[in-house]
Amino acid sequence: MIKETTVLSPPATPVAAQPRPSFFSAAEARVDQWRQFCAVTRSWQAAAARGASEDAPFAEAIALFGTMAPLEAYFAFPGARLLGAVEQALAERNAGVCVRLAQHLSTALLTGAYRYDLSAWDPMQEDAAKSAELLPPDLQGGNGHKPYFETLVVTPADPSHWERARHDLRRLRRSEDAFTYEILQVGTFEDAVIATVCNHNLQAVVIRDGFEYRSRHDAPLLREFLGRHLGATEASTAPGALATALARAVKRYRPELDIYLLTDRAVEALAGSDEAAPLRRVFHDVEELMELHLAILDGISDRYDTPFFNNLKKYAQRPIGTFHALPIARGKSVFRSNWIRDMGHFYGTNLFLAESSATTGGLDSLLEPTGNIKKAQDMTARAFGAKRAFFGTNGTSTSNKIVVQALCKPGDIVIVDRNCHKSHHYGFVLAGAQPYYVEAYPLTQYSMYGAVPLKTIKRALLDCKAQGTLDRVRMIDLTNCTFDGHMYNPTRVMEECLAIKPDLVFLWDEAWFGFARFNAFHRRRTAMGAAATLTARYRDPAYRAEYAAFAAKAGELDPADKTLLETRLLPDPDKVRIRVYQTCSSHKSMSALRQGSMMLVWDDDFHLVEGCFQEAFLAHTSTSPNQQIIASLDLARRQMELEGYELTMNAVEIAFRLRREINTHPLISKYFHIATPAEMVPAAYRASGIEDYGEPHSSWKDLLDAWDNDEFALDPTRLTLLCGASGLDGTQFKGLLAERFDIQINKTSRNSVLLQTNINNTRSDAALLIKALADLSREIDQRLAQGGPSARAAFDARVRSLVTDVPDLPNFSRFYDVFRDDAASVSNEGHMREAFFMAYDVENAEYIKLASSDIDERLKKGAAPMVSANFVIPYPPGFPIMVPGQVITADTIAFMRKLDVKEIHGYQAAQGLKLLKPSRLDALGKKKILH
Ligand SMILES: Cc1ncc(COP(=O)(O)O)c(C=O)c1O
Repeated sequence: MIKETTVLSPPATPVAAQPRPSFFSAAEARVDQWRQFCAVTRSWQAAAARGASEDAPFAEAIALFGTMAPLEAYFAFPGARLLGAVEQALAERNAGVCVRLAQHLSTALLTGAYRYDLSAWDPMQEDAAKSAELLPPDLQGGNGHKPYFETLVVTPADPSHWERARHDLRRLRRSEDAFTYEILQVGTFEDAVIATVCNHNLQAVVIRDGFEYRSRHDAPLLREFLGRHLGATEASTAPGALATALARAVKRYRPELDIYLLTDRAVEALAGSDEAAPLRRVFHDVEELMELHLAILDGISDRYDTPFFNNLKKYAQRPIGTFHALPIARGKSVFRSNWIRDMGHFYGTNLFLAESSATTGGLDSLLEPTGNIKKAQDMTARAFGAKRAFFGTNGTSTSNKIVVQALCKPGDIVIVDRNCHKSHHYGFVLAGAQPYYVEAYPLTQYSMYGAVPLKTIKRALLDCKAQGTLDRVRMIDLTNCTFDGHMYNPTRVMEECLAIKPDLVFLWDEAWFGFARFNAFHRRRTAMGAAATLTARYRDPAYRAEYAAFAAKAGELDPADKTLLETRLLPDPDKVRIRVYQTCSSHKSMSALRQGSMMLVWDDDFHLVEGCFQEAFLAHTSTSPNQQIIASLDLARRQMELEGYELTMNAVEIAFRLRREINTHPLISKYFHIATPAEMVPAAYRASGIEDYGEPHSSWKDLLDAWDNDEFALDPTRLTLLCGASGLDGTQFKGLLAERFDIQINKTSRNSVLLQTNINNTRSDAALLIKALADLSREIDQRLAQGGPSARAAFDARVRSLVTDVPDLPNFSRFYDVFRDDAASVSNEGHMREAFFMAYDVENAEYIKLASSDIDERLKKGAAPMVSANFVIPYPPGFPIMVPGQVITADTIAFMRKLDVKEIHGYQAAQGLKLLKPSRLDALGKKKILH
């Protein structure tokens, strides 16, 4: 019997120092296991060569292979034939053959050579004719290679017939096929789910009716996973409905996969039923094998297709004469130049051939797409689980402004995280919307903010309800995940807010989080994931009953009722509208060129705002959008739909390895530490009690529970590396990493830097960072050892100043009274736009130096108020500590005086703070009273 530890948690092998594979990347786990197997077989061979006893290394090789083999059953490569060869070599105690095979298979897996190299499938080079017949045609020595994938076949057939079935499908391959695939068979529901989870090569699943539920593997954890997270248990799944239940479970975990059902049921009736919704096609048993083969390839084509990029490539090949603007189009002004030819050589010809300012000739127009850009956007909506998608070519900075302006008009109130990116604040100025600033919880010790607690948001909504302004609250605007990795629980946030106002619009700034759609762990915390969950929930009759019970108890929500903040509020299913907008910087987490951004929409009422959206889009989008950025968005979508699962799981795996290695390394951990979930999310928002990721702190199950239920969870790929204990502040440390080690990092705080792992990272990158930290730590150790007590004392003082002597983070104070409709109201929204434009008249503004004692005088009670004339935004991280019209208080000044970043937008040290003159503010106040 196979132990589930091999699949869902570290193997309990006795092999010393074996790396612990994690659930997050079975692929990485396998690579580790094969490398380990290589090492063990080599020591066995060496013992044999020395004439020493082979017993111990041989036993170790047997044990290790026994642990590895079960997981291998879920991958087409190496497959039964090659695994059989290893098994035979072990049975014959042939160390030489074992070493050759192990080395070969390990390398093929590490490099991915099995996806394109014939010899990977025939390591002994002795069965070329036979293996060629077994292989995809393009691996049979042809030119280049076709993309390779694996198809899972779930079948009731006896395993002894599997090889024959594989052979039958292989015979259908044709040289004109655009892709090539291998088949992997399993015989049960549970095995199919394990394969779906572990095997990132899977792109298609063929389900043949009639298979069993239970795996022969001993897998209680898997069973719990199936029940709790994929909604499938043996008891709840009727034997006749296993196939469609499996399709649902697979789709829920990996929505990008194509699923085909082969059944002898009445396919006509089934095809039209809801049961068939997750299926791409239903076939009547195996009567049309060729059709199945073509359908599988067609499914991949649908995802592989990049309509805009394809047309751009075609356009570049055409001999076009341009009498347009844009001289670099076709490259003649570059390649024929005396002086800038190196530009052409550096960028290559295609960049210029693919440049055009035309929107004809198959290029379509981003401003009014009707052709391939429209198609590319529709495919993006499909891939990201949205109803509509729009490409942005000027970063999410512009996408945010578009969405804010599309949905808000002057006077609308937006409840917004004060720490959100500056683009939102500028959006409010442009739209004339009034921000009602709510505060994230502070992480003062790291000079950063967390995220806004749900209670704070509910309080704001209830306050508006109490003072009669709820109808003006148009939007809730939050950043998910935050710069530092705090993930909201968007399902919960939206549900409770919609209970207070059922037509609220949500803007989730997921600038950093575009990748999150592509694995089931992150997806539950995304805006689009939540929109789908809530839509399904409110359509479910069971929800009506749940709501009826809640409504009977809660009655009309009374804003004075303090218990509402503690109560889980439910919206009325007859009134609720799902109106969710998500912006994401595709360039930040996918293979898109800089400034490539996407606006994703799930809005039940989009038809009401489509015109305004179009208007806002046109207002902010260049009339010369960059073709290459659009093409890269098209390609980023293709990549994520086909390999996003593998790549994002790998990024998580690398993050886990970094977290574990740095925090447990005896030398590095003296000076550096990666902040854990417990350190980034206070216990009040972490009901699960999860402290840290990975064994021994938590299992994948703990992580899922935490991510399902906790108010905030920490995205493991965003690593806050605390460097204060090394005596280096964030900026110094960032500089050191860049100059000495060629390592670039994301942002800094007083005592930390932010690292992120993404789909670009490899384990070599992780090794580079760890080596740099080890080198630096060693140097600090040596410096302290050589410097004696005085060096130690200076070092300790420096560490104290970085770690303990940290400035308090200033909250938003308030808008000055003249910018408020009702200065006495508890909500804090204000006319920021009015304050912003007031400063355009130079007579209205004055400057005051930050160091000047005048400031301290003005902070005294009764003195003339200091009201900011503009945004002051330290960068990074890019959120405003002053906004136009905001009253400046002592804590804001204290923070500014301690601020240690060089770039502060809106503030020139030589001039000082820009304020609105008190006399002018008075005059404005009087004028308003007269009106
Ligand atoms: C939360 C957030 N939103 C929006 C942006 C702006 O995105 P872009 O750089 O794509 O313009 C950033 C940039 O750092 C950000 O952190």
